[in-house]
Amino acid sequence: MRVVSGIQPTGQPHLGNYLGAIRNYVKLQDEAVAAGGECLIFLADLHAISMPHDPKELRASTLELVATLVACGVDPSKAILFNQAQVPAHAELQWLLNGTARMGWLNRMTQFKDKSGKNREGASVALFTYPVLQAADVLLYQATHVPVGEDQKQHLELARDIAQKFNNDFASEDNPVFTLPDPIIPPEAARIMSLRDGSAKMSKSDASDMSRINLADDADTMAKKIKKAKTDPEPLPSELKGLEDRPEALNLVSIYAALAETSVDAVLADHGGQGFGAFKPALADLLVARLGPIRNRFVELKEDRESLDAILARGAAQAREIGIPTLKAAYDAMGLIRG
Ligand code: TYM
Repeated sequence: MRVVSGIQPTGQPHLGNYLGAIRNYVKLQDEAVAAGGECLIFLADLHAISMPHDPKELRASTLELVATLVACGVDPSKAILFNQAQVPAHAELQWLLNGTARMGWLNRMTQFKDKSGKNREGASVALFTYPVLQAADVLLYQATHVPVGEDQKQHLELARDIAQKFNNDFASEDNPVFTLPDPIIPPEAARIMSLRDGSAKMSKSDASDMSRINLADDADTMAKKIKKAKTDPEPLPSELKGLEDRPEALNLVSIYAALAETSVDAVLADHGGQGFGAFKPALADLLVARLGPIRNRFVELKEDRESLDAILARGAAQAREIGIPTLKAAYDAMGLIRG
């Protein structure tokens, strides 16, 4: 069992990142350790340069994100925690895989379409080839399990396509160079939506801070954001069917279910018939109970620059080691003389 996943150190990590991905990093880290496998969690700083960025902010948010992940339960004594830029094999393998990835495959990536918007010609080349780097990230380590939110599913399918084509072109079925990775997506939190618009996902890049719960928000801010979250005037139904065409209501109930580690049906069985005047405070209390301790740990850890640097240095050394055989196998399979 080899768990691999990444998160970009841009903007503020939020509830969508936590419920969609980070919480699964922690669960799978423990499963991997129990199974004698490894868990590698990295900060995708090389991905972050695909959009305009401020170098000073990138450096600061990379370190803050280490503190956030540790505060959430990623344990550097169990998981290998590092940043991409300290492991050059990611960028190296991406170049090799650029020979395998097809323009047509990348043209279909919805994230590129969303992020480039109407300004396709002005988008960076890195934004276009971003999914190939993501494929390199997981294939380098022979990942079996990749915990992600639903928005990354298409990128993972591309990673599988690249692995399969590479294996077909340069290796054999009995002796493949790359393992095909499986995405692990949590059913109740696959796609946490914005608190202001039930049709947009909760995102670090949303201009409105009221659209998301940041993991660094204090209790009052969290409660205020839930209170102001967009809803409708109807009370909650007692069955899922009653949430059809009510995206904002469905989102809040899904967040509750994910935080309580139960199903949407179970939440509706308990809260059906309640108006938002009663449900929102219950949700805010649950949120603060779950995220409050994480925030407190984060505030403490982020001041300890020395420990954060040490975690990254140690993680990078371990990751470099694990990546060596696969990178070598890829060079060899392609007929490149590397010495
Ligand atoms: P990023 O940094 O945008 O998000 C990190 C993780 O959080 C998940 N996520 C969500 N899940 C549910 N609801 C949401 N609203 C929500 N928003 C974000 C994302 O799905 C992701 O799992 N390209 C990736 C980083 C990456 C990566 C990788 C991931 C680079 N290489 C290799 C896995 C494997 C990204 O930008 O995630």
